Amino acid sequence: MTSQLFTPLTIRGVEFRNRAWVSPMCQYSAVDGVAGEWHRVHLGSFATGGTGLIMVEATGVNPEGRISVACLGMWNQEQVDAFKPIIDFAHSMGTKVGIQLAHAGRKGSTTAPGSDHPNATLEEGGWTIVAPSAIAFPGYPEPHALSTAEIHQVVQDFASAAKRSLEAGFDVLEIHGAHGYLIHEFLSPLSNTRTDEYGGDFTGRTRFVREIVSAIRSSIPETVPLFLRISATDWVDGGWDLAQSVELMKILKAEGVDMVDVSTGGNVAGVKIPVGPGYQVPLATEIKAQTGILTSTVGLITDPHQAEEILTSGQADVITLGRAMLRNPRWPLFAAETLGDVIEWPVQLERGRTIH
Ligand SMILES: Cc1cc2nc3c(=O)[nH]c(=O)nc-3n(C[C@H](O)[C@H](O)[C@H](O)COP(=O)(O)O)c2cc1C
Repeated sequence: MTSQLFTPLTIRGVEFRNRAWVSPMCQYSAVDGVAGEWHRVHLGSFATGGTGLIMVEATGVNPEGRISVACLGMWNQEQVDAFKPIIDFAHSMGTKVGIQLAHAGRKGSTTAPGSDHPNATLEEGGWTIVAPSAIAFPGYPEPHALSTAEIHQVVQDFASAAKRSLEAGFDVLEIHGAHGYLIHEFLSPLSNTRTDEYGGDFTGRTRFVREIVSAIRSSIPETVPLFLRISATDWVDGGWDLAQSVELMKILKAEGVDMVDVSTGGNVAGVKIPVGPGYQVPLATEIKAQTGILTSTVGLITDPHQAEEILTSGQADVITLGRAMLRNPRWPLFAAETLGDVIEWPVQLERGRTIH
């Protein structure tokens, strides 16, 4: 019997061999936005571990779109070329690869972990951070409020990065609309106090992400899946919330977003988040139920039976795992054994299937 976790899923022209996927996770290991040896080994380990999709970490669509000075980028040919062998290897293992296209907004220009200070200076490769409004996130300098022309440029940068990603061989594109980065900053009335067409009511605050979706969709073939990661709530009254997330996904489903990856938080410091096993699942379930869009859930899902139960009960369509995959990049191989699925292992690893 095949579990739901190991039942393949087809979205547009791409078949994923299972529904246990790797969540995007920053590695702070790039030089000038270019993937290197660490990425080859790190992403390669997931590729040998049986996952259906590796979603590569938040990748800046322009230099100021990176979170840290050591984050990946997708604005030049060198960056494209560095991804090619990584993706080729993943494909040889039967794993699909996606890229999370991102702009960090007011939470950008940080140093890499290990530094004795959080914000990178210009000498260290840092930059002037940008946002919808000149409202600082605690611990960061006041950002520059983007002009209309600058907003249009960022939208174009997303579309250009999408085209470059396909040239590199990525199977899937994900827009990072979560965690208090630029798109989320536009969505939330707590970080967007603009009075022009990019602020104000729901229509104004969602214009930026709607334009990005439209610019990317019109730049890529019909066969390419497009995902969006959102923070479904700011976890605070008066912020971005579940009801607005539902409305947004109804619109974006019609505009060609194929799947929503439901996360939360990141735009408001110090809020109380009810963290616990599967704590974000109910938000994914509500969005799925009200919009009918394919939905992926993430957050403290660590156990194969827990993952299977979420899928069989119809709470989500896909399980995305972060830290559990860091602990064990071969989590899917182990999950299949646990659920009684017989799946193909890389021949090099076959002797590890049993210890008898
Ligand atoms: C080291 C690390 C880096 C992360 N980087 C990203 C990122 O680049 N983009 C993103 O959307 N989420 C990022 N996240 C969040 C994870 O993708 C995931 O949503 C979160 O860890 C909760 O899932 P988990 O409990 O399975 O780890 C990161 C998490 C970790 C631990």
